[in-house]
Amino acid sequence: MSQTLEAGATARARAHSNIALVKYWGKNDAVLNTPAVGSISITLDALYTDTRVTFRAGLATDELWLNGCRHDATKASRVLDLVRYSRGATLCAIVESTNNFPTGAGLASSASGFAALAVAATGAAGLTPTARELSILARHGSGSAARSIFGGFAEMHAGSAADGLDSYAEQLLPGADWPLAILVAITAHGAKPINSTVGMGATAVSSPFYLAWLATAPTDLADMRAAIAAFDFVRVGELAEYNCLKLHALMLTTRPALIYWNAATVAVMHAVRDLRASGIAAYFTIDAGPQVKVLCLPTDASRVHAALSTVGGVLEVRQSALGPDAYRLD
Ligand code: PMV
Repeated sequence: MSQTLEAGATARARAHSNIALVKYWGKNDAVLNTPAVGSISITLDALYTDTRVTFRAGLATDELWLNGCRHDATKASRVLDLVRYSRGATLCAIVESTNNFPTGAGLASSASGFAALAVAATGAAGLTPTARELSILARHGSGSAARSIFGGFAEMHAGSAADGLDSYAEQLLPGADWPLAILVAITAHGAKPINSTVGMGATAVSSPFYLAWLATAPTDLADMRAAIAAFDFVRVGELAEYNCLKLHALMLTTRPALIYWNAATVAVMHAVRDLRASGIAAYFTIDAGPQVKVLCLPTDASRVHAALSTVGGVLEVRQSALGPDAYRLD
């Protein structure tokens, strides 16, 4: 293969984490990493990954350095392989990433991480992909990363094409069009015990609810799309909480059970319901980890922040607005 990529070619990018309001769980095709269901998310301004990709001569394999520690680069190499393929190149790369939040603990570090990687790797390779192409590329690293290419509200299409080219995200609404606040109640700093790919595989073969999950996803997506289009905050919140609990019902009925919650996770869920009983529109959602993300209107954010901070076991509460598209830093 001809070496069209210069050794030393480098680029940096930032991508923000995202939180699904209608969740992705289950894969269509493990190799293409296409999801079994579509999903809808919001991108978070306060949580992001910065990544530099540098193609180097003399490297035997790709290297991934995350917050200064070397990590397994297998998934990063899937993304880099596609970039190398489109340039007819063979050079390996050093990927240096930093997260400004806990890694692998249900705060979607894989979403921001692979979206930043897609932007930085294509930038270093001198490619000028469309946002859709970036979304497809990021998906090869992590399904949720396809959504982090876009700021504000994004929808991921599961797609059905054999080549995976119709499995990408697109923006539903820029964040500036509907400012919302997200409070992230951090209840543990460690990495989660079962990663989402392994968890999804186990759910598909063992949860009796999996077929119902697949069958009801299109309705949840249509309802959420309509609620966002109508700027109906209560409806968005109710649907997000319902879909989150449906996901966790799937996880709890997987064998062996996927219990991502800890005691503080449950306490925060109750605190959010108490807030609603007191007249504050706040809604929770939880991914494959113990953190709770609480959605509210910006005018209620300080009261929600104060309430969550007093829940036993909550280590820290981070506040975020909706974030921007992934972008180049250089
Ligand atoms: O993209 P992954 O493989 O990290 O899986 C994401 C799974 C959930 O966070 C639980 C749901 C979602 O849609 O983000």
